[in-house]
Amino acid sequence: MFEHIPSYPGDPILTLNEDFQKDPRQDKVNLSIGIYLDDHGRLPVMDAVRIAEEAIGTSSVPKPYLPMTGNPIYASAVQALVFGSVVPHVATAQTLGGSGALKVGADFIRRYFPDAQVWLSDPSWENHRFIFERAGFTVNTYPYYDAETGSLKFDAMLAAISKLPAKSVVLLHACCHNPTGVDLNETQWLAVLDVVQERGLLPFVDMAYQGFGAGIDNDAFVVRELLRRHIPAFVANSFSKNFSLYGERCGGLSLICEDQEAAQRVLGQLASVVRSNYSSPPVHGASVVTQVLNTPELRAQWEGQLTAMRERMLAMRATLFQLLSEKISDGHLERYVQQRGMFTYTGLSADQVDRLRHDHGVYILRSGRMCVAGLNQSNVGRVADAVAHVMRHP
Ligand code: LMR
Repeated sequence: MFEHIPSYPGDPILTLNEDFQKDPRQDKVNLSIGIYLDDHGRLPVMDAVRIAEEAIGTSSVPKPYLPMTGNPIYASAVQALVFGSVVPHVATAQTLGGSGALKVGADFIRRYFPDAQVWLSDPSWENHRFIFERAGFTVNTYPYYDAETGSLKFDAMLAAISKLPAKSVVLLHACCHNPTGVDLNETQWLAVLDVVQERGLLPFVDMAYQGFGAGIDNDAFVVRELLRRHIPAFVANSFSKNFSLYGERCGGLSLICEDQEAAQRVLGQLASVVRSNYSSPPVHGASVVTQVLNTPELRAQWEGQLTAMRERMLAMRATLFQLLSEKISDGHLERYVQQRGMFTYTGLSADQVDRLRHDHGVYILRSGRMCVAGLNQSNVGRVADAVAHVMRHP
């Protein structure tokens, strides 16, 4: 019956993370998957989350099915965080993390825009392609990253987007681009949105790292500008990273619609997509996020800790840059401090990455992506030594 089923070669991120867990070496360092660890190398439980969970309780609370599009109070809290306020012409559904939002959005677009094709940055998060291809789309790329310099190919990006047919789906990373850490500045965003508007493109913004780049509001610049210009758009957001709630699968999918009536129709059809995928989302994580975002003291505590996380990543970038600069004289090392968020595209080849893992126990993705959020005072020196070693022997 199952002989025709090939073995799974594994996922470039999740399978590598599983391999790391199995590695018996005591001094191994995991800079592969996008997970923020604290300076002791531990996955943090944020104080605001702990307090909210204590307030909610877990064992004695009834757990009915949520509506198909999730808890409406959570959806309002998502809108307020993502867009800066609750917006009647935005339809928001609670989703299973950012991936769930992308999948629900992809299925929805496939149903109502069957001729559209999808355009991703080159490169993009590997799972973007998997999700949209599995939803039935042809997936293309637009120029984005200049491997020579470690910076953005903005003119080429804009030129490519300017040629797309109307209603093409253009996937944009709001902040902390995954995997390169290279973002657009505000002027560049405005130019992209001019093109999106002129050509009638359909932007799908993935915002998985709000607060990790330049702060909650700054990181949402493109999203807020889409809203201000009333451009129809999809926005996927995630609380995996900024709430350290990876396993709770908390996210949201928001559609900027023409008006409130359109938003209600759209929300209804999002419910239908959810029903045929997994019926309804889970209760617990969303109630924690809602409690934190809607309780002023908890919200302030959460924002404070999020700022500290962002600053710790910046400090680790600076330390790694300094240590590497002492050992290597070229190699565009400034990318370590110029790129933003959890990820830096190191420019290391797949072969160098393999040697980092085999010879030094340092895990990064074979694309060369390093998660700087896994660096800490105790491991950064060893990581710098290992990276310098493989750079000297390309
Ligand atoms: C990552 O890119 O490492 C994270 O977003 C985790 C994932 O699901 O790939």
